[in-house]
Amino acid sequence: MHIGILTGGGDCPGLNAVIRAVTLALLQNGASRVTGIRRGFLGLLNRDTTALDAAAVAGILAQGGTMLGTHNRCDPFHYFGAGGADCSERALATVRQLGLDGLVIIGGDGTMNIAQGFAQLGVPIVGVPKTIDNDICHNERSFGFDSAVAVVAEALDRLDTTARSHGRVMIVETMGRYAGWIALEGGLAGGAHQILLPELPYQLDAVAALCRQREQADGPGHTLICIAEGARAQDGDLSVAQTLVDSPDPVRLGGVGHLLARQLAPLLQSEVRATLLGHVQRGGSPTPFDRVLATRFGHAAAQCVQRGEWGGMVALDKGDIIRVPLSAVAGCSRPVPLGHELLVVARSLGIGLGGP
Ligand code: F6P
Repeated sequence: MHIGILTGGGDCPGLNAVIRAVTLALLQNGASRVTGIRRGFLGLLNRDTTALDAAAVAGILAQGGTMLGTHNRCDPFHYFGAGGADCSERALATVRQLGLDGLVIIGGDGTMNIAQGFAQLGVPIVGVPKTIDNDICHNERSFGFDSAVAVVAEALDRLDTTARSHGRVMIVETMGRYAGWIALEGGLAGGAHQILLPELPYQLDAVAALCRQREQADGPGHTLICIAEGARAQDGDLSVAQTLVDSPDPVRLGGVGHLLARQLAPLLQSEVRATLLGHVQRGGSPTPFDRVLATRFGHAAAQCVQRGEWGGMVALDKGDIIRVPLSAVAGCSRPVPLGHELLVVARSLGIGLGGP
């Protein structure tokens, strides 16, 4: 049996751990060949591959990024290199020429949409969910998320000491696209006084009032605010947050944190500063939790291959690994539910969530 492995979309801590686990588990259990497809679907279009074996994946478990490289704009069904034309036949030809019996595709929601497209064309596919945003449907936790949360928590820990010293309002903007998971868990882990999420549009007055309360209280008077990049003001212009998160501009600048700083400063006595964490949250070595989860996903994907269970994505459900149809994942998202336990916890601790 000859299996291909491909990583699509943005990189994420833990991708190499999946590549390693899939490769080792397949080779240990009877696969004759494993081939890595380079730079995501671009490698399928250009037949750009590399052989994977125990030696090739040695030492990559703890490395961030993806040893195969990736490309987050390459969709063979709308290929940018051909003016948006459907080049899926070219990718299928590569699958045939390489003699692949199946493909393990590791990626986020966009990649799973493409995987579903190829599955419908008859390619045997197993999907593995990947995103620091933790927003893939039917999957309660993705690898990379824990690593991103650790970066946010450390940033807040560091900002706390400087905010305290100056009695300042410090705003940290996190990634997460349209989901608030990273800001919510990162904010809780880092002791943020206010957490602003896309799922709960904030009221500027309420955010300012909480900062003023802290200004007037005994003590350093500082406030730490953790804001997700997709967050927006309740009465604000929705398109502002959308432009910042999904800008068609090739240079995405981010900026809801800085926008909030500009809005808050005239309403407060304290000085306000904003920090954009950006891709720091996506780089570097995965946490032990992410290494283990990625390894479990890789092992489960290899098992699907061996059992001939194609057309599904491995996922985590109440701590167990399950398999969900790709069709149920494609085009679906997973925001923070408004009744989520962590929101209840935050409220009960007096952490501001942008409302009165
Ligand atoms: O989906 C993962 C993610 O890191 C989001 O949190 C973020 O909005 C986006 O990717 C950044 O994408 P890019 O690397 O293209 O700037």
